[in-house]
Amino acid sequence: MMKSIFKTDPSKVECINSIYQMSDMPDKVLDSEDDCYIGYEEIGEGYSGITRLTLPPDAVECSKLIAEYVKDGILLDLACGDGAYTVPCAKLGMKVIGGDISNKMMSLLIERAEKNNVSLDKVMLCRMNALDIPINDESIDCVIANSVLHLISHPEKVVDEIYRVLKKDGVFICFDDAPGRGAYGGNQYYDATGEIYRRYWEYLGKIGIKEKKYSWKFDRNGYCETKFNKEERLISWNHEHVEKVEDIFLPRLSSRGFSAQTTVPEKEHKEALQYALEAADKRFGEGWRKYSVSFTQGDMVATVFTKGE
Ligand SMILES: C[S@@+](CC[C@H](N)C(=O)[O-])C[C@H]1O[C@@H](n2cnc3c(N)ncnc32)[C@H](O)[C@@H]1O
Repeated sequence: MMKSIFKTDPSKVECINSIYQMSDMPDKVLDSEDDCYIGYEEIGEGYSGITRLTLPPDAVECSKLIAEYVKDGILLDLACGDGAYTVPCAKLGMKVIGGDISNKMMSLLIERAEKNNVSLDKVMLCRMNALDIPINDESIDCVIANSVLHLISHPEKVVDEIYRVLKKDGVFICFDDAPGRGAYGGNQYYDATGEIYRRYWEYLGKIGIKEKKYSWKFDRNGYCETKFNKEERLISWNHEHVEKVEDIFLPRLSSRGFSAQTTVPEKEHKEALQYALEAADKRFGEGWRKYSVSFTQGDMVATVFTKGE
C-alpha cells in the first residue's frame, strides 16, 4: 500500500534497524551556500530529557485531532525525531510515515514505542530530508512537521514540499503554544535557567563562538496562507505541568541538545558549562537543580492548512 507512494521502491533501498534509508544527505549541513539544516543525530537522547520514553500529554491530545483528519489515510510526521507525535498517533491506529534525517532519533522513537507497548506495525520509518521528500506528488492525507522549520535555512522549501506531497484537500496541521498557559510558580526556575543559559553563551561569546540559528523568525502562517486555506481549531484541555531544572533543561544543555549549540566544540562546551554551573552555584546555592516551574496548560491552538483545488 505504502510502496506506491514513494519515488523509489523502499524494498530497493537499505533498511537499517527498521529504518528505510531514503536519503543519502548528511545528518546536518551548516555554513553552506546551499540549503542548511541541523539534524539531531548527535543530540539524540539529550533532546527530550526525562520525557524521552513517555507519551507527552500535549502530543496525545493533538493526536486525537490529527486522527479526525487522517481517518483511513496516511499521516506523514515530517522530522518525527524521537516520536513525540508518531507514537501517540500509532497508538490510535493511524498509518504513519515517520521521516527524519537522523537514524539515531528514529531509533529512540522505536524505543519510546516499545516502552509504551505501542505497535509500529502501521508505521514506516524513513531516513529522509524534509527539503526533498522522497514521496510522489499528491500521495499523503495529512502532514505534521513539529519544531523543525526553524532548523532549516530555507523553510519555505519544506512548506513547498509538504504542499506537493499532500493530496487535494489534504491538510498540514501545525500546533502552537498554549494561549491558556498560566504559570503559577516558577520564578526560581526561570531565574536559574536564564542565568545558566546566559553565562554559557557569555563564556563562548568571549572566544568568538555564537549560537547557531537559521529561521527562528520565519513567518510560517504568512507563507502557508499564500498556498493553503487556513483554519484554526482549539483543543480544549487542562493539564498541570511541573518541570524541574534537572528534568529537561539541564540534560539538554549538558549534552549540547539545544540546536543553537550545534557548532560548539566539545572542549569549549565543557568549559562554558562549568563556568555557567559555577555561576549558578554561586548565585543560588546548591539547590537550584530542583527548582521547578509549574503551570496549567489550557487550550491549544492547531492551525490547519488545507490544500485546495
Ligand atoms: C526539535 S526536533 C523535533 C522532533 C519532533 N517533531 C518533535 O516534535 O518532538 C527536530 C527534528 O528535525 C530533524 N531534522 C532537522 N533537519 C531536518 C531535515 N532537513 N530533514 C528531516 N529532518 C530534519 C532533526 O533530526 C530532529 O529530529
